[in-house]
Amino acid sequence: MINALRGMKDLTFEESQRFVHIVTTAIGIAKKYGYNYIETPILEETKLFKRSVGESSDIVGKEMYQFEDKGGNDVCMRPEGTAGVVRAFVQAKLDRRQNEKFKFYYYGPMFRYERPQKGRLREFHQFGCESFGEASVYEDFTIIQMIGDIFSALGIGYKLEINSLGCTECMPTYRQNLVNFLTECQDDLCEDCNRRISTNPIRVLDCKNEKCQSLLTDSPKLIDNLCDSCDNDMKKLTQLLETANIDYTINTNLVRGLDYYNKTAFEFVSSEIGAQSAIAGGGRYDKLVEFLDGKATPAVGFALGIERIMGIVKMPEVNREGYYLGAMDQEAIDALFPLASKKRLTNKVEVEYEPKKLKAHLKGADRVNARYCAVIGEDELKNGTIWVKDLVEKEEYTISQSVF
Ligand code: HAM
Repeated sequence: MINALRGMKDLTFEESQRFVHIVTTAIGIAKKYGYNYIETPILEETKLFKRSVGESSDIVGKEMYQFEDKGGNDVCMRPEGTAGVVRAFVQAKLDRRQNEKFKFYYYGPMFRYERPQKGRLREFHQFGCESFGEASVYEDFTIIQMIGDIFSALGIGYKLEINSLGCTECMPTYRQNLVNFLTECQDDLCEDCNRRISTNPIRVLDCKNEKCQSLLTDSPKLIDNLCDSCDNDMKKLTQLLETANIDYTINTNLVRGLDYYNKTAFEFVSSEIGAQSAIAGGGRYDKLVEFLDGKATPAVGFALGIERIMGIVKMPEVNREGYYLGAMDQEAIDALFPLASKKRLTNKVEVEYEPKKLKAHLKGADRVNARYCAVIGEDELKNGTIWVKDLVEKEEYTISQSVF
């Protein structure tokens, strides 16, 4: 037997229903916030992710599904959606339409060669949104509010953590202060953190090693060293969240695993799903469009992990729906098809191809959760009628096939 690859999962029956419910709910809400669908390829040039997600990130450094294609191109299965959307935005020259705003949503598979565990897959699915052209912190708030709406509609509880990652004005001084601090306690930091002091010191802040975390309690915090613009935005964001009654905590160590963020960064976490508790993450990335050769365009976005919320989503009750059509003898079966075609214009219809007794048809209708069981037997065939049972109202009647 050939199985799916390690860390990759099929979505069959029950899971696929959850998947579709999550995606359709998220799409419905994203549309209310003015987002339009965008589709980008799964395969991109490797340099796209090196330049955006960052060479020193774990995603690019350790986790890419990267290979040479038959034409000798260095390509990669996308580990996330933002880079491809920004590339498409620049390629379509939307960055040149400076007075316009563009808001895109997408969903689809992402690939990261991580060590699989509960909630951590090598192929997983994200639903994401990217908003281009809006520098105001009101947009950061609106995106957070939209994610809150999505989780509420899905019946999912969450904790929201926010931070500011500063900007080109305040980040360099902070980074230097942090490097000075880290260099002093270098000998006590783990191997990864030691490497990161020179490659990406900010990432040291979210090291999972307990010893490193205890050393970091005294580290300088970016939030205390923000420039006026970043500080005002952070204050405004917290004020907006409070007014909207959205609970949050400021996590000064929240740095995100992707290098393109500045200013607002956030994560939604769930206490119900184990160690891999982040169910959505995102933030502002005002420099990325420029970094990918476009005209400077402010941007903010997020993505949620569909598999991570599949286990905790509250599914709506499924009501009986549509028609089950059956016949009691072979000659009556052909008569079902024109009736099925007509009913299918407005209803869900399933046809049973085997002649069966009435009791078996009622069981069949139950199995497919149909509201109506409609059966043609010998008498009905002769009279041009059909017997119908409403399985909700528990009523039965025989009507002419012409009005069915
Ligand atoms: P991310 O935090 O890397 O952000 O991923 C977003 C979400 O994808 C996570 O919160 C998690 O729910 C899910 N996820 C990540 N890795 C895995 C995995 N191995 N298995 C299962 N689920 C996973 C991004 O990808 C950014 N592109 C988000 C963004 C959009 N920022 C701005 N715009």
